[in-house]
Amino acid sequence: MLPSSPLLVFFCFFIIFSATSTTATDHIVGANKGWNPGINYTLWANNHTFYVGDLISFRYQKTQYNVFEVNQTGYDNCTTEGALGNWTSGKDFIPLNKAKRYYFICGNGQCFNGMKVSVVVHPLPPAPSGSVSSSNHTSPASAAPVVLQKGLVSFRALVVAFASIWFGSGWI
Ligand SMILES: *[C@@H]1O[C@H](CO)[C@@H](O)[C@H](O)[C@H]1NC(C)=O
Ligand SMILES: *[C@@H]1O[C@H](CO)[C@@H](O)[C@H](O)[C@H]1NC(C)=O
Ligand SMILES: *[C@@H]1O[C@H](CO)[C@@H](O)[C@H](O)[C@H]1NC(C)=O
Ligand SMILES: *[C@@H]1O[C@H](CO)[C@@H](O)[C@H](O)[C@H]1NC(C)=O
Ligand SMILES: *[C@@H]1O[C@H](CO)[C@@H](O)[C@H](O)[C@H]1NC(C)=O
Ligand SMILES: *[C@@H]1O[C@H](CO)[C@@H](O)[C@H](O)[C@H]1NC(C)=O
Repeated sequence: MLPSSPLLVFFCFFIIFSATSTTATDHIVGANKGWNPGINYTLWANNHTFYVGDLISFRYQKTQYNVFEVNQTGYDNCTTEGALGNWTSGKDFIPLNKAKRYYFICGNGQCFNGMKVSVVVHPLPPAPSGSVSSSNHTSPASAAPVVLQKGLVSFRALVVAFASIWFGSGWI
């Protein structure tokens, strides 16, 4: 029994860490085009499904651009008055913690050149304890990360439970 233990411990930690890093989906704005003028981000947003707890991330030249979270008025009119937040690092990860519509724009005039994006964040779907394929109003591509996430979360719980039994049994 003992010779296999270090391997098992390693395996447990590997699973725990890999699960932790995949529990939230990071939506990179513009994908490989990033946050730049002249891109229709409505098309990008329409191709993604956002859930509470996901991240939206902006990658850009920090000397040229930035990110402001605004309300609908700010989004429609490209104004940052009363902005809800601003980011300038060039690689910003913004948590989407609420089920609502979010509005982000670039604050230096490039909003008028298309640097604006609006995303609807959905509540996490109720856990169906089986498959999510019974409802097909979301595409398989967008549903996949959620399935993965739920699968990993429960698998992690299982591993943690197993690990605590193992360690609890006095192996250490
Ligand atoms: C972006 O694409 C959407 C969806 O096709 C379209 O309605 C919108 O007018 C486009 N926006 C711009 C600025 O081209
Ligand atoms: C939508 O997403 C799929 C898969 O991520 C990708 O292959 C496709 O090119 C995207 N379409 C647009 C218009 O971005
Ligand atoms: C902002 O845009 C809205 C339309 O979305 C318009 O009705 C309103 O007058 C604009 N406000 C300002 C201050 O420009
Ligand atoms: C957005 O914020 C501005 C400035 O705080 C405010 O004047 C405006 O009424 C807000 N618009 C909406 C739709 O909440
Ligand atoms: C950016 O956000 C910080 C707080 O996070 C605030 O103090 C600052 O005034 C904001 N800047 C602008 C231009 O809104
Ligand atoms: C679900 O998908 C099936 C075939 O895959 C289709 O026949 C059915 O109309 C779809 N239902 C809805 C509500 O889209």
